[in-house]
Amino acid sequence: MAGIEYVKEIEKARRDLKALISSKHCAPIMLRLAYMGSHMALSSVKEVKAKHPKISYADLYQLAGVVAFEVTGGPCIDFVPGRKDSMISPKEGRLPDANKGASHLRDVFYRMGLSDRDIVALSGGHTLGRAHPERSGFEGPWTKDPLKFDNSYFVELLRGDSEGLLKLRTDKVLVEDPEFRKYVVLYAKDEEAFFKDYATSHKKLSELGFTSP
Ligand code: HEM
Repeated sequence: MAGIEYVKEIEKARRDLKALISSKHCAPIMLRLAYMGSHMALSSVKEVKAKHPKISYADLYQLAGVVAFEVTGGPCIDFVPGRKDSMISPKEGRLPDANKGASHLRDVFYRMGLSDRDIVALSGGHTLGRAHPERSGFEGPWTKDPLKFDNSYFVELLRGDSEGLLKLRTDKVLVEDPEFRKYVVLYAKDEEAFFKDYATSHKKLSELGFTSP
């Protein structure tokens, strides 16, 4: 169980992260850090780590992801601290391949104990940010306002190809697969349902390999 001093330190780090993410407009990369790790985001988190050395990196990454959502207008996500740094490794090597189909997505996410509903809700993370040719070989944002968290990712998915907007193979399968599609349709229609499910799924993802007290 995280002690009271630790929890107080987390609250201070949360404020520092909020200031950092707002001033640097780096919410997308922070979210991605929480999901899969990122060297660029790491250097920003190091600044915060230097001020709060007691907080584990694993907690800081996940806190950065939660704050990134709040700053861009997304849902509040319940944050339970207490990750140990050795616990971030289990996810490594299990990242999805953007060129593959529905069965690959299910392989990767089911192994983590996540469902079809989680897969679709979490893919909504692509509401924020963009792909960079020098990093992944893909290019462009998924939505017209990549610094605002809303349900536009799903609206664009249903609309089909749209100039200047990116759709990975793993994004397109969400519309093609009937089980996934149900949730795409729901979230495109009902932003509140998306926010609610996103918050639940993000919490699940952020607590993998971490048994809360
Ligand atoms: C960016 C693939 C799931 C959040 C990207 C990029 C790729 C990718 C190829 C572009 C990277 C670059 O060029 O900079 C995938 C695949 C997924 C997946 C195949 C499987 C479903 C997720 C999830 C989240 C997420 C679950 C978060 C909940 C992001 C964000 C960016 C991003 C925020 C933008 C980063 C930036 O603007 O620098 N993803 N992703 N992705 N991904 Fe995913």
